[in-house]
Amino acid sequence: MKILLIGNGGRENALAWAIYNSPSFKESNSEIYTTIGSLGLDIISKPVKIKPTEIEKLSNFAKENQIDLTVVGPEIPLAMGIVDEFEKLGLKIFGPTKKASEIESSKILSKKLMQKYDIPTAKFETFTEDNLQEVHDYINGLRYPIVIKADGLAAGKGVIIAQDINEANQTIADFTEKEVFGESGKSFIVEEFLEGYELSIFVITDGIDYVMLPSTQDHKKIGEGDTGKNTGGMGAYAPAEQFIDEELLNKIKTSVIEPALKGLNIEGRKYKGCLYCGLMIAETGEGIREPNVIEFNCRFGDPETQVVVPLIKSDFLKLLLSSVEGSIKDYRIEFFDKYACCVVLASEGYPGDYEKRKVIKGLNEVGSDCLVFHAGTKLSDGNEVLTNGGRVLNVVGLSSNSLKEAISNSYKNVDRIHFENMYFRKDIGYRALKYKS
Ligand code: AMP
Ligand code: GLY
Repeated sequence: MKILLIGNGGRENALAWAIYNSPSFKESNSEIYTTIGSLGLDIISKPVKIKPTEIEKLSNFAKENQIDLTVVGPEIPLAMGIVDEFEKLGLKIFGPTKKASEIESSKILSKKLMQKYDIPTAKFETFTEDNLQEVHDYINGLRYPIVIKADGLAAGKGVIIAQDINEANQTIADFTEKEVFGESGKSFIVEEFLEGYELSIFVITDGIDYVMLPSTQDHKKIGEGDTGKNTGGMGAYAPAEQFIDEELLNKIKTSVIEPALKGLNIEGRKYKGCLYCGLMIAETGEGIREPNVIEFNCRFGDPETQVVVPLIKSDFLKLLLSSVEGSIKDYRIEFFDKYACCVVLASEGYPGDYEKRKVIKGLNEVGSDCLVFHAGTKLSDGNEVLTNGGRVLNVVGLSSNSLKEAISNSYKNVDRIHFENMYFRKDIGYRALKYKS
C-alpha cells in the first residue's frame, strides 16, 4: 500500500510510527509519503514538498502516485474540505468532511449540536460583533470566572478564562474591535466555568460504529502545577485509569459519543475519522463522576496521540482503513497492558518568542524503554539535528508495570537529551500520581 500522511508535527510523527509498525503495512511492503517539515518523519517516510493546505496539489499527487490511503493530521486542511476534494476524485482519505469537521471549526455549531442532542456541556450564550450591547448586559450579571470562546479556529488560543468583568470586557474588545483572531473571533460564546478534571477521549468511527482509544490527559499550561500561559500541550500520559471507571466510561458512551455521532448523522454531517472528545469530569462528594464536553475536535490530539498509539496492539493501519471503508463493526481493537508518558521538550520562551537552530545532542543515547517523536527539528547542512520550533521533541517513556515507571522512563531519557535553552515541565503525570494517594 501507499500511504500519504498530511501534517508534520509530533502527532504526525506518532501516526507515521503507528502506521509503519502495523503488521499489514510491513507484510505488504508498503510506503509512507509525508508532507515536508519534521525531520523524524523522513527516517521512515518519503518527503513530499507540498504544504498541508495545498489541497489541489495534494490530490494531484495522490492520483499521480496511486496513493491507496491519505491520512490527515491537522484540522486546517479538514476545515478547508480536503476530504470532500479527495472523495470527489475517488481517493480514499481518513478524516471527516468539511461539514462534519465544523464540529471543531465552529464552536457555536458544536455547542448548538450538544444542546439539541442533550449532550452535557457548560451553559452558554452565543454573540456576534453586531450584538455587543446584549453581551455587555449579559456578562454584567454573571458569576466569575466565565469562559469566552472565539467561534472559529484560533490555533488553540481562542479560549479565554475571564476572572472578572474587566477581563471579560477586554477579551470581547480584543475579539471584535482589535480582531485578534480575524473572522474567527467576530462570533463568540460566553459560557459557564466548569470545575473538575480534564480527560481526552479519542473515538475512531465510520459514522455509525466506533471504537474508543485509551483515555488520556493533556497538560496545556506552560508551567508546573498547571500555571502560566496555555500552550499546544506540554505533555500527556495514558491510560488515565485513575480518572475513569466503568460507570464513567458508560456515561461517556451513552451521553456523549453516541448522541454526537447520531446527531451529526441526522444533521447531514456524517462523521468519519477520529473524533476528539475534550471532557471536564465533575466529581461529587460521593465519588460520582459526570462528564461535560468542553470541546470536540475533528482530529487526533497533540501530544495525546504520542501516548495513545503506542498502547494499540491491533493493526493501526487497518483501524484507519475500517473508518474509511465503513467496517468499524468488524474491527477488533486490542491494547497492550502498558503505560506511556510524553514529556514535550520546548524552546525557552515558547509559547511566546523563542530561538531556533540550537544543536540537539544525545538523541542516540535514548533507551529502548522510550520513543522520541520529532515535533520541530531540522537537519543542518553538516547533518546535525537542530531545533526548528517551539515544541521540539516528544520523549515518550513506556512501561509494562506502572504509570510511575513510564513517567520515570521519560525523565530518565529526557536527561540524556540536550539543547541550549531546553525547557520542559517536570511534573507530567503528577495529577495521576497524586490522585487519592
Ligand atoms: P478548548 O480550546 O475549548 O479546549 O479550551 C482550552 C482550555 O480551556 C480547556 O482545555 C480547558 O482547560 C479550558 N476550558 C474551556 N472551556 C472551559 C469551561 N467551560 N470551564 C472550564 N475550563 C474551560
Ligand atoms: N492537546 C490538545 C489538542 O490537540 O487540541
